[in-house]
Amino acid sequence: MEAEYVRSVYHTRDLPPPRLTEIAVAGRSNVGKSSLLNRLTGRRHLAKTSATPGKTRCLNYFLIHPDSARDFYIVDLPGYGYAKVSKEMREDWDRLLSAYLEEATRPSGLIALFDSRREATATDSEWLAWLGQWGRPYLVVLTKCDKLTNNERAKSLLRWRRAMESGGPEPVMFSAMTSEGKDKIWQWIDRVRKSRAHN
Ligand code: GTP
Ligand code: MG
Repeated sequence: MEAEYVRSVYHTRDLPPPRLTEIAVAGRSNVGKSSLLNRLTGRRHLAKTSATPGKTRCLNYFLIHPDSARDFYIVDLPGYGYAKVSKEMREDWDRLLSAYLEEATRPSGLIALFDSRREATATDSEWLAWLGQWGRPYLVVLTKCDKLTNNERAKSLLRWRRAMESGGPEPVMFSAMTSEGKDKIWQWIDRVRKSRAHN
């Protein structure tokens, strides 16, 4: 699959014109956003993966060229509300993120990543509640599931489903190491893109 990095956006005034479908990928620093993007596109170095997380404070636009369908963007939203940065920087970041997510015409859907090994924090629960009333399609993806035993995996699913108090779609287990979950995520993306095309 052809995919390329397009640009980093630091201010809403630099957002591209809303011409193509945008699918956002969000989650706390180090959860595996860049790894998921690389795995989905089969491009190992498309998005940089980092061992020193949480540095980027911008929306990263990637243009995806599927073989037979229209181009679309995947937008990597680093570390919502979790930045290890000054309060002032965090407020700037939250403002950019909220402004983007509340734009009338985009994104068309959002993939929310959580570490499958972790408990939901209060912030995670707030974020899930917010998504529940967002009014657009979202998918909860539980990352790094290659690190779980079968028993832990069942517990993780239960735990995260419980954290999704307002319901929502069944969470998808994902591993960037084994590619587990990749097809389900693509199916969801395809559905969102099709439904947008009919609007
Ligand atoms: P920021 O961009 O800093 O917000 O982080 P990120 O969410 O993009 O995370 P990234 O993809 O950079 O991954 C963080 C670390 O987790 C890296 O060391 C990855 O190799 C590791 N990692 C990501 N996904 C997986 C996975 O599915 N399995 C395992 N075992 N490790 C993973
Ligand atoms: Mg990243």
